[in-house]
Amino acid sequence: MKTQLRSSRVVIIGTGAVGSTTAYTLLLRERVSELVLIDANKDKALGEALDMNHGLPFTGGVKLWAGDYSDCADADIIVIAAGASQRPGETRIDLLKRNAGIFDSIIQNIVKYNDHGIILVATNPVDILTYVSLKKSGFPSNRVIGSGTLLDSARFRYLIGQNKGINPRSIHAHIVGEHGDSELPLWSLANVAGIGLEFSDQDREDIFDSTKNAAYEIINAKGATSYAIALALDRIIVSILQDEGSVLNVSTLLNDYNGVSDVYLGVPSIVDRTGVRQVLDLELSDQELIQFQNSANKLKSEIANLEL
Ligand SMILES: NC(=O)c1ccc[n+]([C@@H]2O[C@H](COP(=O)([O-])OP(=O)(O)OC[C@H]3O[C@@H](n4cnc5c(N)ncnc54)[C@H](O)[C@@H]3O)[C@@H](O)[C@H]2O)c1
Repeated sequence: MKTQLRSSRVVIIGTGAVGSTTAYTLLLRERVSELVLIDANKDKALGEALDMNHGLPFTGGVKLWAGDYSDCADADIIVIAAGASQRPGETRIDLLKRNAGIFDSIIQNIVKYNDHGIILVATNPVDILTYVSLKKSGFPSNRVIGSGTLLDSARFRYLIGQNKGINPRSIHAHIVGEHGDSELPLWSLANVAGIGLEFSDQDREDIFDSTKNAAYEIINAKGATSYAIALALDRIIVSILQDEGSVLNVSTLLNDYNGVSDVYLGVPSIVDRTGVRQVLDLELSDQELIQFQNSANKLKSEIANLEL
């Protein structure tokens, strides 16, 4: 008997470097049956949709179009990658004022048409804007997710892999906390096949500096980051649509978690069809605990200045 594949729709709001590369990644990997592109700059969304549609004879049968918010009605996942990105030298927090403003109307427009989907935020500062999305949407927190430190953890794994001469897919290692300058590496959990990894102090410093400063380095060199974040978003989307239950360092609402409450941070979480099904407990050292709480406090003081 032929298995009927469930149709799935992903809407991407903001079709700049991140949004359009994410759409292209989903298209190439044939992840969804319907892909909708929305941008305040309608021509941009239209141009990206046309360009990608012309590649369909070489890929699978994805239905892709430049749409509007009414297309959110049937969306399983709505990705938000709209808004300002870092200019050379800017931090992610520097984007808060500019990007929090546009989230008002974006979230209002989404909830006008959709009450069942999952909102996946990439726009920076991602942890704070995911919290803003939660408050403004009224969705349950399991269905409002940020890309968190999934990308940072991928950078960390890549750099550890380079250092050890091991494929990064075989490296298990985590960056947690803010997707930004206060994030922290969990060296004690870094392992290959369950075997802990040894590093010199200098290697630790070099690997973490390169992880944390990767975005600055790439933005200085080419103006934006796009490929790895697109693959990270693809990973989260697939874990949701295929009900995988994969453990991913997404940004999720924390309550009574290592002394932290009412803030979004990147931590290992089980992601499935329901969104974030469960946040995994992390045993942090005394020093890691202080760093983690500092990361939370930094974001909470920024949130306190917002009208929510
Ligand atoms: N979470 C992560 O790991 C991660 C990684 C890379 C970039 N980012 C962030 O993603 C965001 C997008 O980055 P980019 O490089 O694609 O920027 P970009 O400037 O290339 O694209 C942004 C797009 O958003 C659109 N836009 C602006 N306001 C809008 C609105 N109200 N509604 C709909 N569309 C709107 C613009 O027209 C533009 O096409 C930035 O905030 C960036 O910092 C996050």
